[in-house]
Amino acid sequence: MTHILRFRPRIKYQHQDTSILTGKKIDGLEVAKSVKERVKKAVDELKKQGVEPCLATILVGDNQASATYVKNKHKACAEVGILTKDHKPSASISQDEMNDLIDSLNNDRAVHGILVQLPLPEHLDEFTTTSRIFPIKDVDGLTPHNVGLLSMGKAVLKACTPSGIMEMFDYYDIDLSGKNVVIINRSNLIGKPLYHMLLEKNATVITCHSKTKNLKEICQSADIVISAVGDRSKFVLTPEMIKKDAIVIDVAISHHDGKLVGDADYEKIIEKASYVTPVPGGVGPMTVAMLLKNTITAASLSKGLGH
Ligand code: GUN
Repeated sequence: MTHILRFRPRIKYQHQDTSILTGKKIDGLEVAKSVKERVKKAVDELKKQGVEPCLATILVGDNQASATYVKNKHKACAEVGILTKDHKPSASISQDEMNDLIDSLNNDRAVHGILVQLPLPEHLDEFTTTSRIFPIKDVDGLTPHNVGLLSMGKAVLKACTPSGIMEMFDYYDIDLSGKNVVIINRSNLIGKPLYHMLLEKNATVITCHSKTKNLKEICQSADIVISAVGDRSKFVLTPEMIKKDAIVIDVAISHHDGKLVGDADYEKIIEKASYVTPVPGGVGPMTVAMLLKNTITAASLSKGLGH
C-alpha cells in the first residue's frame, strides 16, 4: 500500500530567465503548497481506508514564538484535513508528568504523530522527553531509533526542517552529487540530520559552528551554503563570504530592526548567488509542510499501510 505515500512526479518548476537576474529566489511557499496538495490527497486516501490522521502537539509554558509555531502547525493540519490534539501543560510540569503525558499519547491509537515543541523549560530534559516518544509516532525524527536509521540511510521519519530543504533542492532540480556543501549549524534539529541527508545524495559536507576557524574561507569554497545561526548580532552571511553563483539556503529567522530576517542579507546575496531562499517565505513554510507529510507517513505506518 505504499502508493498512499508515494508522491506523484511533479510538474517541473518554470525557471526564470537567468539572463535578466543574477540570482533566483527559491520560493518556499510554492514548494510547500505543492507538498501540501500531495499530502491532502494522501489524507483523503487514508480517510477512505478508515484512518483519520491525527497529530498531537505538546507546547510547554508560554513561549510566544513557540506558541506561534504550534498555531501555524495546527492551521496547516486543518488545511489538509489532519486532526490535531492540543496539549499545553504549564511551565511547571515535572519530568515525570511529561513522561506520563507522552506515554498516554503513545498508547492512544487515535494519535499517529506526537510533536513536543522545542525549546523546553530548563528543568525538562530534551533528550529524555523526545526519546520517550514511540519511534513510529516520532514526526520530528528526533528519537535515537530514527536518528540512527537516518545515519544509515534508512529513516522513514526524518527531521522536518532538513527534509524541507531537501525537498526544495528536489523541486528546483538542484543536483547535489559531488557538490561542496557547508552547513553552519550543528543542532539535532537542523545541522546533524541535514548532514546525513546531504551525504546520502553524494554531497561533500562540512559542518561549521561557533568554534569553527576560518569560517569565511570555508564558506567561499562552498557550492551551497546552508546557514542557521539566527542571531544577527553575532553573524551575518555577506556576499563576500560566498563564491559567485553559490546557492544560499537561509534557515534562520529572527527579529532585527523591526523586521523578520535570516542570516543572509537577501538583497545583496541574490546579486551574487544563483539561488537564495528568502526570509520569511523560504525554509519556514517547508518545516510545516514536512511535518504534515511525516504525520501521514506515521498514520500509514500505524495501520501497516506504509513502507
Ligand atoms: N522548535 C523549532 N523548530 C522545531 C521543530 O522542527 N520541531 C520541534 N519539535 N520544535 C522546534
